[in-house]
Amino acid sequence: MTKRTGLRGFTIFMTGFSGAGKSTIAQRLVEVVEEEYQRPLTLLDGDVIRRMLSSGLTFSRADRELNIRRIGYVAAEVTRHGGVCVCAAIAPFRSVRAEARAAVEVFGRFYEVHISTPLAVCEQRDPKGLYRKVRRGEIKGFTGVDDPFEAPQQCELEIDTSAMSLEDEVRRILALPAADGLL
Ligand code: ADX
Repeated sequence: MTKRTGLRGFTIFMTGFSGAGKSTIAQRLVEVVEEEYQRPLTLLDGDVIRRMLSSGLTFSRADRELNIRRIGYVAAEVTRHGGVCVCAAIAPFRSVRAEARAAVEVFGRFYEVHISTPLAVCEQRDPKGLYRKVRRGEIKGFTGVDDPFEAPQQCELEIDTSAMSLEDEVRRILALPAADGLL
């Protein structure tokens, strides 16, 4: 049963390369927030969103922007209703991340977390075997290789998953809303 906490909603928006560790962190955030804080969490994971809300979109700049705009819209709705929303998409463009922030900040706090794991590490992990395909020339326009990633210039937190444990990452992220009295 959902506890009536009376607390305001907020959004944690993770951005970073494919393979940086966004989904792994997001999964752990779901467990910790639901179990330790008894708050339901809405996870908007890039791979799932692209199957469900953004099926048919490509990886062109325009379609990536539309994808992130949709994620920002849903995150704003969740935040509006007092929910906790975690977004985990590459979201490579600064301007559309700023749009998502503006949409959410009408209703609550927006924490942009740059999962800044170096490309070489993401490529070595290659959890979906995509970087291998990119290097073989089977995928074009892959973020970080031959498509841009505009790293945040000002974000609430930066986490390099090659240098920290998952538990520490989750604690550092949750320290942000906790410090604002939102958890
Ligand atoms: S975003 O750019 O629109 O934010 P999103 O997070 O939804 O991207 O999807 C990224 C995932 O799609 C990657 O983790 C990877 O599995 C897959 N993918 C397929 N093609 C590409 C590509 N050209 N660039 C980046 N990711 C791709």
